[in-house]
Amino acid sequence: MQKKQVYTRISAIQGLAFNSLKQLISWSNDFKVDQPQIDTQHESLFKLAVEASELSRSPADKDKLITKFEEFGILLDEHFRDEEDVLVEIGYPMLKGHRAEHKALLSEFKFIRQRLSTWGGEPAFQEKAFVVLNFMLGVTVGHILHSDVNYARCMQKDLLKQADICLPDDGP
Ligand SMILES: [Fe+2]
Ligand SMILES: [Fe+2]
Repeated sequence: MQKKQVYTRISAIQGLAFNSLKQLISWSNDFKVDQPQIDTQHESLFKLAVEASELSRSPADKDKLITKFEEFGILLDEHFRDEEDVLVEIGYPMLKGHRAEHKALLSEFKFIRQRLSTWGGEPAFQEKAFVVLNFMLGVTVGHILHSDVNYARCMQKDLLKQADICLPDDGP
């Protein structure tokens, strides 16, 4: 099922020209959630995704791309733990669902890393590079710019004391 999920999403990224992809995953200060540690980690994840997109252009960079992907996964794991600590601290009402998203992304990462360990010769490069970039796109544009934005709104709500901006999910 996970394999299907990964390969279904690839088709979306295959249509993107390199420059539009790079533009899509370029960091902007507008993405900040106003929590310095989290913002630094988000920015680093976007930066690693841009670097990976550059490495995905030539099969000669295959090993560097794998190393970049590993680096991305290590930071992602650390970031999710730190972010969940912050969400506990602010009493984020949708923590359960957010944690589940983190868990799904980490298991997708492990699945892809395992597949990359059997990476074949040059003909397979483009396909595998797409899998890597697709995952990074899912984390940056898919998760950080959508799901993380929701808790940023709740943090602001906390400051503004507006109770109706974020709604709880079905439990802690
Ligand atoms: Fe995040
Ligand atoms: Fe998150």
